[in-house]
Amino acid sequence: MRGWLMTSVALATMGSAAMAAPAPTAWQNRALTADQRADLLVQAMTEDEKITVVTGLFGSQFALPAYRRAEARPQSAGYVPGIPRLGFTPQWQSDAGSGVATQGAAPPALERTALPSGILTASTWDPAAATAAGAVVGAEARASGFNEQLAGGVDLDRDPGNGRNFEYGGEDPWLAGTMVGAFIKGIQSNAIITTIKHYAMNDQETGRNFVDVKVDQAAARTSDLLAFQIAIEQGNPWSVMCSYNLVNGQHACQNDWLLNKVLKGDWGYQGFVMSDWGAQHDTVADALGGLDQETGVGLGKTDYHVWLEKLKAAIADGRVPKAVLDDKVRRIARALIASGAVDSPVAPGPIDFAAHALASQHAAEAGIVLLKNQGDILPLAGRAKTIAVFGGHADVGVLSGGGSAQVYSPGGTAVPDPDAAQGFPHPIVYYKSSPVDGLKAGLPDAAIHYSDGADRAAAAAAAKKADVAIVFVTQWTAESRDFPLTLPDDQDSLVAAVAAANPNTIVVLETGAAVTMPWAGKVKGIVEAWYPGTNGGQAIARVLTGAVNPSGHLPISFPQKPEDYPRAKPAGLGLPEGQGFPVTLTEGASVGYKWLGKNNTAPLFAFGHGLSYTSFAKTGLTANVAGQDLRVSFRIRNTGRVAGAEVGQIYVAPVPGGWEGPKRLGGYGKAMLAAGAEQTVTLTIDPRLLATWDEGRHGWHVTAGQYRVTLASSAVDAGSSVTVTLPERWLPAGRGAALASR
Ligand code: GLC
Repeated sequence: MRGWLMTSVALATMGSAAMAAPAPTAWQNRALTADQRADLLVQAMTEDEKITVVTGLFGSQFALPAYRRAEARPQSAGYVPGIPRLGFTPQWQSDAGSGVATQGAAPPALERTALPSGILTASTWDPAAATAAGAVVGAEARASGFNEQLAGGVDLDRDPGNGRNFEYGGEDPWLAGTMVGAFIKGIQSNAIITTIKHYAMNDQETGRNFVDVKVDQAAARTSDLLAFQIAIEQGNPWSVMCSYNLVNGQHACQNDWLLNKVLKGDWGYQGFVMSDWGAQHDTVADALGGLDQETGVGLGKTDYHVWLEKLKAAIADGRVPKAVLDDKVRRIARALIASGAVDSPVAPGPIDFAAHALASQHAAEAGIVLLKNQGDILPLAGRAKTIAVFGGHADVGVLSGGGSAQVYSPGGTAVPDPDAAQGFPHPIVYYKSSPVDGLKAGLPDAAIHYSDGADRAAAAAAAKKADVAIVFVTQWTAESRDFPLTLPDDQDSLVAAVAAANPNTIVVLETGAAVTMPWAGKVKGIVEAWYPGTNGGQAIARVLTGAVNPSGHLPISFPQKPEDYPRAKPAGLGLPEGQGFPVTLTEGASVGYKWLGKNNTAPLFAFGHGLSYTSFAKTGLTANVAGQDLRVSFRIRNTGRVAGAEVGQIYVAPVPGGWEGPKRLGGYGKAMLAAGAEQTVTLTIDPRLLATWDEGRHGWHVTAGQYRVTLASSAVDAGSSVTVTLPERWLPAGRGAALASR
């Protein structure tokens, strides 16, 4: 088919001329499809030009001298030279999910707007909010001269201590997939490419280059891979980044099952696969295993790469067929053409930082989670006269996550990092957005005093004299490491001292994911603000004062203790760097609330939990079969006195059980409601969420029978339920066409 298409296209392009090769720039004809243009481009390229396009260099000026290129953007992640002879664009690659990051942080760092962390965006349970946040990230990437944003992290929060959970979309495949898919759509609305990552099973950072993740294939398809599949379907990322780890004995970037069988075969993925930086390992195995672009060549002290100067020989001696290289180039070309990046070339341009900071603030306000509000201690407006604030550098800023995703918000860090000299993933960066300043602005009549809380006795004394005490606690998490769930620097003792002195104590957390809270029963208010971005201090303050009614819901469970999870500590902890080790995911697809529910273990705070300053009634649940689909409908009414947004969560389960956990999130809908207003939400449940994976028939199987549909406010909320009888249904591994009977 493709050969015919290419020939006919060549003829169409040249008219009735003899069968000469099309003009080198024939591919630029915008009347042709991206596929046709990509075919023409591949046809016009020399082998050297093809190898140029599949080889990504480390973009930063710290690259090994042989690989530095003046055309790369300063301190950027990656650069792939273009083909000037053919007018084909270079690829300028930047991290990541919170905005345009700076590699290596050597001054002056590129100052850009930091959107809230991925886990905060997921906490909005609002795809429109995710798309809006992504649109800002993509706009600043384009205005910074990048046409590839290495963003859209969707690895599941399988291990609560994973140092990169802050970058991702939580523990549930449907929530993570839909939210990250929406985020990707926002970024790509700027006619640039994203690269969804890290594919796949990269759920811990300890030994990330050497860990061999052993996972049942069906379990992978109904957990981590399902999150990728949903995000790819909904966001259409033009690239996928394969991860550092091995999966079932094979490196992810040469993993025939992951890349060729599942991604490109079953799912029909048309984009290209780039390696994580240095995740390439072998010239031929990577080329045949499904990798399309090696990246980060020149990063680090050793000169590793697998294709530059090496692929040529492998093609010459037939170990890598020419058609395999052509397919890689075609995928890259198609992505850059179809995304609009070719026809709308990126170029450094102006950025409206004020508008973007406000957009980041609104994004944060929608994802901050009110976990506890005993006695309506919150909101503060009109109540507290004296407020004692402690800890978390709340007088000057808010925390951000570390590693390649590190964005340097305008104005520099609010708190110098004493360990910055340690290098990656340092420095720890606080954005200059003070919650205390925000509180003073929002509560002009209150007397607000801040102290760092280092002296616990003095903090207790100050707390005792105040109407309300607020303790900010922080946990920095970062790429390349995993972290204990206990708050660092003994912050628990600060909370305990303040709570003992003042019963009206509120705790605000700035963490990357779940932490333990031994003091949870001793305080009246708990707010999870995650890493809230450039204007995070204002966002936190507006939630605390009540200027904003919180509407975030947890995308992860907060366990009572680490032992409640399959692994209390990450596998491989303490092993020497470079030593490979296995981690067998005995829990399979039973991740987060599914694991806790299966083991009847109560969480500290449940997946889906989140409170509001108003109240809601969720009623009128109906579930029925429409055609072959399960259609669910319910009403949400604001029964309180202030406007607010509520998330109706639909959980599904086979009445006789048999899944990886007692229930699955089947769908959700968020409604913003004025006091007294009501809205009906109607959802169609994705059939894969009602199915199990059948390896034998290589498809999804919905067993005929009774299913319970529950409308709830979290994974542990009984809510209201109905049962519905579903017919048997088979679906193909990819998108919804009927499974051919075998
Ligand atoms: C890093 C990260 C990846 C990032 C890349 C480029 O090691 O794993 O998320 O996009 O390298 O910085």
